[in-house]
Amino acid sequence: MSPALLEQWLPSLRQHAADVQQRAYAPYSNFRVGAALLAVDGTIITGCNVENASYPAGICAERVAVGAAVAAGIRTFVAIVVCTDAPAPTPPCGICRQVLAEFGLDLAVVSFSTVGQRPVVQWTLAELLPHPFMPSSLHS
Ligand code: THU
Repeated sequence: MSPALLEQWLPSLRQHAADVQQRAYAPYSNFRVGAALLAVDGTIITGCNVENASYPAGICAERVAVGAAVAAGIRTFVAIVVCTDAPAPTPPCGICRQVLAEFGLDLAVVSFSTVGQRPVVQWTLAELLPHPFMPSSLHS
C-alpha cells in the first residue's frame, strides 16, 4: 500500500485499535493492547489481548485479530495498527511477527501509544522480521 493511501486509512485504523483496546482482558499485566488489521478490500478486523490465569495461555491482540480475520475468510492484509498503554509506541512481539509473516512480509506495521504524546512509529514486517521462517522454508 502506498504511504499516501495508508495515511488516509490511518485515522480510522487508529480509532478501531483504540476502541478495541478498551475491551482488552489484561488483569495480570494491566497492559492493554488493541490491534486493527486492514485487509486489501478495505475491511478492518480488530483484536485485543486476552490474558489467562495460566499466564502462557494468554494471547496477544495481533494474533486475536489475525484469527478473527482468517475465520471471516480474510487472508490478504495491507496494514496492522497497534496501540498500547506504554508511553512510547511498541512493536509486535516476536510470536506475532511470525504469525503475521505467514500472510506477507510487505505488511505495514504501525504503532502508537494511547497514553503518551510520542508520534506514531511505522515499519514493514520485513524490517521487523528479517530472515523469516516462511511456508516455503518447509520445502527448502
Ligand atoms: N501483548 C500484545 O497483545 N501484543 C504484543 O505485541 C506484545 C504484548 C500483550 C500480551 C500480554 O497480554 C501483555 O501484552 C503484556 O505482555
